[in-house]
Amino acid sequence: MIELDGFTEPFYITRPLLPELDETFKMIEEIWQSNHLSNNGKMVKQLESELADFLGINYLSVFANGTVALQIACKALRLSGEVITTPFTFAATSNCLNWNKLQPVFCDIEEDTFNINPDLIESFITEKTSAILPVHVFGNPCNVEIIQQIADKYGLKVLYDAAHAFGVKINDKPIAAFGDISMFSFHATKIFHTIEGGALTLNNSSLKERVDLLKNFGLKSDNTIVEPGTNGKLNEVQAGIGILLLKKIQEEIRMRKAITNLYRQLLADVPGVKLIHDVKGVTHNYSYFVIRVEQEEYGLSRDELYKALLEFNIISRKYFFPLCSDFQCYKNLISSSKLNLPVANRVAESVLSLPLHGRMSNNDVQKICRIIQQLRK
Ligand SMILES: Cc1ncc(COP(=O)(O)O)c(C=O)c1O
Repeated sequence: MIELDGFTEPFYITRPLLPELDETFKMIEEIWQSNHLSNNGKMVKQLESELADFLGINYLSVFANGTVALQIACKALRLSGEVITTPFTFAATSNCLNWNKLQPVFCDIEEDTFNINPDLIESFITEKTSAILPVHVFGNPCNVEIIQQIADKYGLKVLYDAAHAFGVKINDKPIAAFGDISMFSFHATKIFHTIEGGALTLNNSSLKERVDLLKNFGLKSDNTIVEPGTNGKLNEVQAGIGILLLKKIQEEIRMRKAITNLYRQLLADVPGVKLIHDVKGVTHNYSYFVIRVEQEEYGLSRDELYKALLEFNIISRKYFFPLCSDFQCYKNLISSSKLNLPVANRVAESVLSLPLHGRMSNNDVQKICRIIQQLRK
């Protein structure tokens, strides 16, 4: 019998990190005085330089959002034909391929990391394959070494969707240092954000020049369009928000780590609730707190728990359900078959992201965990 009270207001999966209002007004005042609102102004240049430092990479370009950044990355790398990717991701990953007339080929994932299974990638390579597009799901790094070995063996590009992996490191090496290009999303739901926004990190200066051209209509300084680009520019006000939030990011990660550890402690002994642990050698960013619900032991399915939590005003998320391979536009691809994706299908049916942000109190976490404990049948 549940006797617990829930939350009086909806308790959302996340709450954006915000800069202080007085420093935001000061930043906006500076932009107003400059009369420079977009087109590679002072704030964008400063943000690009500070982000390159923070992410430990030489070449970086900021964008209006992560999706347009990913679309431009495919074009900048001159991808063609087929791209091997994961179905366990947000729609933007496979949709950016479709927008570039590329065919996604879905490869199954690993049971423990939820990332593309590198041991299966080679079996999908054909003469049409031009790249691998893995995702560092929930900020947990892919097996970057094996992926690079495969790419080198077959002459493929590697484009990482690092939307969740801001600030993550593998043995002190920044995540942005792997592959040809990585994409970071700066949407307001992400740990670091510019309200909407994104960035590409690039492994050489000519790629940086090319993405800068493509995000600005393909326009060269002498007013000639050298190739058909699009508009992917970030504006000055949003770049200014990013500069202010970058100063707060380490503290946000520290607070989320503490919340994550409390969740782990309180849920450790709940039968049927499986936790995801830190990986040795990885500097995590604690951007998501994800559990797997094992129905036989817990007594409720993931979907039943999701609904039950709503009764307590707890808004969890089924990231990522449905799989991209089940979308109407991709479900007829051979690689979308359930037989090809047994692990991804199992994981998508059982994962649940619980609320996590740096403004949560210990009381909030305790309340959510008590409810999860008591809902067990
Ligand atoms: C894995 C993944 N890829 C791509 C995106 C797209 O990023 P954006 O929302 O900045 O366009 C997101 C998030 O929104 C995401 O979670």
